[in-house]
Amino acid sequence: MKANLAFVLVLLASAAAWAQAPNYPDWAYAVPTPENEATAPKDDGTVFTLPGSQGKFTRSQISGAGRKPPADWYPSDHPAMPALIAAGDPTRQITACAACHYPNGKGRPQNAGIAGLNADYLAHQMQDMKNGLRTTSEPRKKNAQQMVGFAKAMTDEEIAETAAYYAALPPTVPIKVVETETVPKLRSQDGLWLPVDGTPREPIGNRVIEMPEDVAREQLRDPRANFVAYVPVGALARGKALAASCAMCHGASMEGRAAIPGISGRSPSYLARQLHDFQTEARHGPMAAMMKPSVAKMTSSDIVNITAYLASLPVKP
Ligand code: HEC
Ligand code: HEC
Repeated sequence: MKANLAFVLVLLASAAAWAQAPNYPDWAYAVPTPENEATAPKDDGTVFTLPGSQGKFTRSQISGAGRKPPADWYPSDHPAMPALIAAGDPTRQITACAACHYPNGKGRPQNAGIAGLNADYLAHQMQDMKNGLRTTSEPRKKNAQQMVGFAKAMTDEEIAETAAYYAALPPTVPIKVVETETVPKLRSQDGLWLPVDGTPREPIGNRVIEMPEDVAREQLRDPRANFVAYVPVGALARGKALAASCAMCHGASMEGRAAIPGISGRSPSYLARQLHDFQTEARHGPMAAMMKPSVAKMTSSDIVNITAYLASLPVKP
């Protein structure tokens, strides 16, 4: 009986591996494991503060546990937030946008930085999610599925209002991109890679590894905290050559053009998930069709090189 069960588990595991599309950039998902989630810092009543902030919050207050509004560490960094962004709507199971994208739109690698993107583009994405034209190709990516659920529950007015708020925000702290042969050993937590301290480094291989510069600050969801993206040696030059073809639509400096989104200075993990989602057609709205020829022949190395290069560019030239 036991042997049978093991056999079934092996079959299930290999079925999951087969189901994964080619070029799946596993590094861009940092799919959390239950064992790693169990070691996430818990609220033990400690009250935290951050440099330059008047705020004093516990971990539960920071994340907005119990469907409360999440912490706003730096209210002077942004205009007044629309109610849905600051507090969500528990009656419709909409979580405050600020909990994931932060009040300043910086977002985190596991969701999306959306500050300063074109308002029509942002609204269009939420409409695509609402209408079943955009989802994620990774069934274990729960936050992306939640995002689709929020869009479905939103009214057209709320979509327009939240898009306008995030579109009007200035760029946030830039990501640092560093070419390297090796990275620390890593574990995923909350959809993010964290270093396992005190272990030997390992070859970076064909991956981009985006990590908080300061893990403790990131775990307090500091919207001014920075990320470093480690990329393979030579990736920036290779990515630059590959990205030449993107400029005709995304702009000479990839800063975006009208409703074609800016792709410069953005999280490489986020960008890679999108390229993969265009390949698998998890994103197949009317505008996504314009991306099809660009991703058709993209290999997993191309995805590494292009996203490394794009992340290294300034958000606005
Ligand atoms: C639980 C976390 C979470 C919350 C809360 C959340 N989002 Fe998102 N959002 C995501 C994730 C995850 C993605 C991207 C998923 C992916 O494809 O990797 C995303 C993507 C988006 C995008 C697409 C960005 C782009 O460049 O195409 C928009 C727009 C957006 N969110 C707006 C909102 C708004 C407005 C709210 C509040 C009503 C909100 N989100 C609340 C997790 C969240
Ligand atoms: C023919 C025009 C065109 C070309 C060429 C093009 N793109 Fe796009 N791209 C678009 C459009 C339009 C969208 C918005 C799609 C949507 O609304 O779903 C987009 C979206 C994207 C996104 C998603 C951004 C986000 O916020 O989610 C990424 C990443 C991207 N493009 C990367 C690239 C790269 C890399 C290249 C070059 C290899 C490229 N694009 C070439 C038109 C183009």
